[in-house]
Amino acid sequence: MRAELLELVRLSENDVIKVGAQLSKKLRKGDCICLSGDIGAGKSVLCRSIIQSLQITPEEVPSPTFTIVQTYPCKEFEIWHCDLYRLGSSDQLFELGLDDALETEVCLIEWPDRLGPYAPKSSLWIDIEIDNSSRTLRFQASDTNNWKKRLENIK
Ligand SMILES: Nc1ncnc2c1ncn2[C@@H]1O[C@H](COP(=O)(O)OP(=O)(O)OP(=O)(O)O)[C@@H](O)[C@H]1O
Ligand SMILES: [Mg+2]
Repeated sequence: MRAELLELVRLSENDVIKVGAQLSKKLRKGDCICLSGDIGAGKSVLCRSIIQSLQITPEEVPSPTFTIVQTYPCKEFEIWHCDLYRLGSSDQLFELGLDDALETEVCLIEWPDRLGPYAPKSSLWIDIEIDNSSRTLRFQASDTNNWKKRLENIK
C-alpha cells in the first residue's frame, strides 16, 4: 500500500523545474524515483532538472526514449535516467544492468509499470497530471519512513 505524502497543484513548467532542483538535494545512493503520467506530462522535464542540478557541469539531458537508459556521473553516485516505454521484456532490465543500478546508484524511471515486480519497495512514486499548461504532482511511497522527512520542504 502506498501512502500519499505530498501533493503540489497548478505547477508551471518553471515550478516543476524548481521541484526537481529541491528534490535533487535529498537524493542518495540506492534511491529510485518512479515517474508516471501521460505522454508529455513532464516526467523528462522533472528528471532533467534533477540531473542538471546534481551535475558538476550541467550538460544536455536528452530523453532516453530510444536508448532506454542514459547515465550521468555525479559527485556521489551515477544517475540512471530510464524511459522503459519501449522495454521489450523484463530480461532486458538485467541486460541493461538496471537491477544492480537500482541498488547502488540513483535511478529515475519513466513508465515504471514496466518494472513489474522489480520496482523497489523503497521507491518514491511521483505521478504527474496534466491540466492545460499546469501540472499536479502527487508523491507517494510504501516506505514512508524513507521519504516523509525528505519531502518536508519541497514546494
Ligand atoms: N507545467 C508544466 N510542467 C512540465 N512540462 C510542461 C508544463 N507545461 C508545459 N510543459 C511542456 O510539456 C512537455 C513535457 O514533456 P516531457 O518530455 O517532459 O514529457 P514526458 O512525461 O517525459 O513524456 P514521455 O512519456 O513522452 O516521455 C514539454 O514540452 C514541456 O515544455
Ligand atoms: Mg519522457
